[in-house]
Amino acid sequence: MNWENRYIMNDIPWNQGEAAPELVEILKEGIIKNQIIVPGCGFGHDCAKIAQNQSCQVLGLDLSTTAIRQAVNRYGSLNNLKFVEGDIFRVSSEFEMQFDWLVEHTCFCALNPVDRKSYLDFATFILKPKAKLFGIFFKDVEGHSGPPYPISKKDFEDLFSKNFNLLSIWDAKKSFKGRENNEFCALLERS
Ligand SMILES: C[S@@+](CC[C@H](N)C(=O)[O-])C[C@H]1O[C@@H](n2cnc3c(N)ncnc32)[C@H](O)[C@@H]1O
Repeated sequence: MNWENRYIMNDIPWNQGEAAPELVEILKEGIIKNQIIVPGCGFGHDCAKIAQNQSCQVLGLDLSTTAIRQAVNRYGSLNNLKFVEGDIFRVSSEFEMQFDWLVEHTCFCALNPVDRKSYLDFATFILKPKAKLFGIFFKDVEGHSGPPYPISKKDFEDLFSKNFNLLSIWDAKKSFKGRENNEFCALLERS
């Protein structure tokens, strides 16, 4: 998938124009704070919602120059939010153990399943010990093979249990239209 081309062509059906509903719910609990990273942030709607609601510093990271430019245009005025263009598989040593939270929404599912172990390595590398990961994952996708690529809860647990403790896993109660009953959420702690 050439993500930059998709943004240039404005062929971006994943962009919902606002933060993921289940993220909005968990933000109400006030637990997501301090240094936060959102990989594959796109236009930055999730990042902005976190930055507006919490006492935190948020970093949105995305491969696409166009997505990052748009994110900065939309939300660059928030002084606790920064956007950086970059590849999660090539982060520099500056990122090592810098973050208290990773918030995942539609980056993991955008990756080819062969890259899932590399995503796990990325998450492990950038998070501090005992830091948390909150994510929304596709358990089912109707009509096509991907992306987005779904993952079963069992495969998810097998993958992440290598470097994370699973604190909680639940079916998403709120989803964007068209994604109802297709998502699960997980809260994990880096070991
Ligand atoms: C399906 S889109 C979701 C974007 C955003 N999270 C949203 O919900 O609107 C996947 C995003 O991941 C980004 N992406 C894909 N592979 C990446 C990588 N290796 N490193 C950083 N970003 C990546 C793409 O550029 C794209 O913006």
